[in-house]
Amino acid sequence: MGDAPQHLTADGYLDRYEAAAERDPMRGPALLAGWLRTEWRPLFAELRARRPILRTPAFTLVTRFPDVTEVLQNGDIFTVSGYASRLDPAVGGPVMLTRDGTPLNWREKGLMQVMLPPEDVPRVRALVARTADRALDAAEPRGRIDLVGELARPVCTTVCAEYFGFSGPTPETLARWSRAIITDLTANLAGDPEIHAASLAAGREMMDHLRGVAAERRADGGAAHRQDVFARLLGTVLPGELAWDDDRIVINVAGLLLGFLENAVGSTTHLVRQLLLRPEVHRAAVRAANEPDTTEFDRHVWEALRFDPFLKMISRVCAREHVLAAGTPRETVVPAGTLVLAAVASAMFDETAVPEPDRFRTDRPPHTRLHFGHGPHACVGVHPGAAVISETVRRLLLRPGLRLLDPPDGTVVRDRDVFPDRFWLGLGGDER
Ligand code: HEM
Repeated sequence: MGDAPQHLTADGYLDRYEAAAERDPMRGPALLAGWLRTEWRPLFAELRARRPILRTPAFTLVTRFPDVTEVLQNGDIFTVSGYASRLDPAVGGPVMLTRDGTPLNWREKGLMQVMLPPEDVPRVRALVARTADRALDAAEPRGRIDLVGELARPVCTTVCAEYFGFSGPTPETLARWSRAIITDLTANLAGDPEIHAASLAAGREMMDHLRGVAAERRADGGAAHRQDVFARLLGTVLPGELAWDDDRIVINVAGLLLGFLENAVGSTTHLVRQLLLRPEVHRAAVRAANEPDTTEFDRHVWEALRFDPFLKMISRVCAREHVLAAGTPRETVVPAGTLVLAAVASAMFDETAVPEPDRFRTDRPPHTRLHFGHGPHACVGVHPGAAVISETVRRLLLRPGLRLLDPPDGTVVRDRDVFPDRFWLGLGGDER
């Protein structure tokens, strides 16, 4: 995803798509799926210019900023019902992400916002700084670090343990559960039954484990002395008619892991590569990393991620026929039942909303960033989640001699072409 050289001019994707679809209607979407992995920028550039809302027999692809945000804002029309059959059975019950404007979504999103407040950011940054520095100190004498396995993953599992308040039997098991479930949720468009079965098996193990942690915490008097999110959840007493039980708490705790781990590791990997590919930007980011106020550094982080977002599209199912982009030349009828892919990665290159999209600019207003979603399902973990990514990258950039390595070492190695598993970077003066 995003590692192949990309030519940024439109070069006939639509013609090739249409020629293939004419021979076999399902061949077109398969061709698109391949390009979406490796040539998303030129593909989206051409679609934005020539066919901003592309209807295929398998899905409708939406690429312009106003249309992507129209999809994400209108939760009653563009629903998350497609997630339910994947995620709910894995965790054993409904999850806020799989429920549209229901009482469950309203209540639990509100509660989880309280549990993950912006005030936690300094504490999360301090935890990340300590953990990242330890990993970097250990790697520096070797002159290289695997950003995925030696930095981003250990930082994220430490955040799970110390801030969210739970570990797996091992960090590797925690990561395996999360990977299996998220693969089924986001990278199984074709509905492969083996991927789904692996997610269910991982979910059973994970939920048994988390229920055990909750029971231990209850036995420990609710662990009121602890300051983590799990303890906050167990210690929250709501009035009778609003009360929630440990089953709901444990499902929301699972959501902490599932919302966070792959997104944070993937985003960190992608954006570091984008920063290091641009020597001038890298130098400016290092200067900003040395400032006590992280505002300017954060702008570098989110702008770098725009050039290769980990999550490029957000999927929805159209509940009833809707005229998308009504009253514009792009106006398109989306029939009920359509799988709609809102291409946030494309929207962030739409020059009508993001001026000079091909330039790295740190002065862009926050509303142009869609990394944490948009509308009713926007990320509930945005504050701590953003802090983890930014502080991990900041500690890394403060190390001298940080650089990309030549292939094959410097290549991002991925599982299923999606999830980063390894990405070696050079550190210090050693040119190995
Ligand atoms: C503390 C860490 C995190 C937690 C606990 C978390 C949790 C969640 C939850 C529960 C939702 C669903 C909200 C709803 O349905 O109303 C969500 C949505 C989302 N999150 Fe996060 N998340 C975290 C970090 C991240 C990170 C690091 C990213 C990417 C950089 C991210 C990107 C998103 C996106 C794009 C959505 C929207 C999904 C959609 O609309 O279908 N999250 N997150």
